[in-house]
Amino acid sequence: MSDIINIAIDGPAGAGKSTIAKLVAKKKNFIYVDTGAMYRALALFCSRNGIAPEDEEKVIENCGKCDIKIEYKDGVQYVILNGENVNDFIRTEEISRFTSMISAYPKVREILLDLQRNLAKENNVIMDGRDIGTNILPDADLKIYLTASVSARANRRYKEQCEKGYDVDLEEIKKDIEDRDYRDMHKEVGALKVADDAVTVDSSDMSIDEVVAEISGLIDNIKK
Ligand code: DC
Repeated sequence: MSDIINIAIDGPAGAGKSTIAKLVAKKKNFIYVDTGAMYRALALFCSRNGIAPEDEEKVIENCGKCDIKIEYKDGVQYVILNGENVNDFIRTEEISRFTSMISAYPKVREILLDLQRNLAKENNVIMDGRDIGTNILPDADLKIYLTASVSARANRRYKEQCEKGYDVDLEEIKKDIEDRDYRDMHKEVGALKVADDAVTVDSSDMSIDEVVAEISGLIDNIKK
């Protein structure tokens, strides 16, 4: 048995997966792998080439032209798309919506499968996504399903956007979260679901520190 430790964190958008996974990775000296960023890089490439997300054939053809590499500097993950660091371009609302649509195509998911599995083979990772525990790393040492109610997630996002000075509508944010959940959970391949052996953590009424402490405790109890 290898000494490598793999932790999978799945859950809906806005549950705090990346915030929590980053903090836990730092605390435990693991590599944080953000798989959503890989899908976002593919979406960026298609979007830059004027492809419509509904055009499955063209999306697949374009994704086939993408070379995605992942690099780490001081614990920060950089997504390198055909040689370019695209971290600063993949977090817009437009790319979020685009990504949500193209990540439903099975062929698009296939493109990223080996990259994700190879990172986990060679490193202690905490990998966040939607199908990590159920499909990418079925033998992960620990699987977490991190969730929060729609209203808790919407309130957090509303607060974040208001703090950035954006004029946003709470009901619209809620609707957007519900739509995204629906798309995430009803994919033909890679749908978001709770793995049979996952530990569910509901962060609705928990602080970030509390969630980090709970997951760190679960990691400490892993038996190799
Ligand atoms: O985690 P995120 O919001 O950055 O993910 C962006 C999109 O990619 C989101 O719509 C879900 C999708 N995704 C996926 O289908 N599978 C993953 N492993 C990670 C993300």
